[in-house]
Amino acid sequence: MDKSIPEKIILASNNAGKAREIAEILSAYSISVQPQSEFNVPEIPETGLTFVENALLKARNACHHTGLPALADDSGIEIDALNGAPGIYSARFAGEKASDEENLHKVLTELKDIPEVQRSARFQCVMVLLQHEYDPTPLIVQGTWEGSILSKPQGENGFGYDPIFYVAKYQCSAAQLTAEQKNALSHRGKALTALAEQIKTLTKK
Ligand code: IMP
Repeated sequence: MDKSIPEKIILASNNAGKAREIAEILSAYSISVQPQSEFNVPEIPETGLTFVENALLKARNACHHTGLPALADDSGIEIDALNGAPGIYSARFAGEKASDEENLHKVLTELKDIPEVQRSARFQCVMVLLQHEYDPTPLIVQGTWEGSILSKPQGENGFGYDPIFYVAKYQCSAAQLTAEQKNALSHRGKALTALAEQIKTLTKK
């Protein structure tokens, strides 16, 4: 299967925060994506038990409804003191339709008696690129970002759990970083850099 960069790639996500970051990071590689909302792609239930399965489900759903290649991101935060929760359930930790604020407040409540040294956590991101619905060799990449959980939210940038994710390198929360700083360190930035590298390698052959 030809793995050249498709001219049109559908982004299989309705999360505005993710979409903004993905577009910013990929623009450095001259890759552009179009949101699935422009093609009225319906959301699909995330029934997988891993980030990989859920990203595949979302990418395949977008390919199915558009007939075009699709890129999907499945991501979340793993908190060691919660045995890795919320993990793949990060978007719905406080309930099926929970807001970012509700989710992060649930984390803070569950960690309220946990001391600073035991608040380690990491963001995970898996990205999947499918050339078409039946692509048997999806490109799958992953990125991880290590940090810890603050005791209260700080900062206005980013999205999701960023206000409670402490970044040791800058001694502030992820929501206090600029977009450039976050993209250079983040799980999503690492995954997309790996994706762009793989595409480059495949297109050279
Ligand atoms: P999903 O990939 O659609 O299942 O949702 C991932 C969820 O993980 C998001 O809704 C956020 O709550 C969280 N998440 C993923 N990446 C980030 C990030 O870069 N910052 C903050 N929260 C994130």
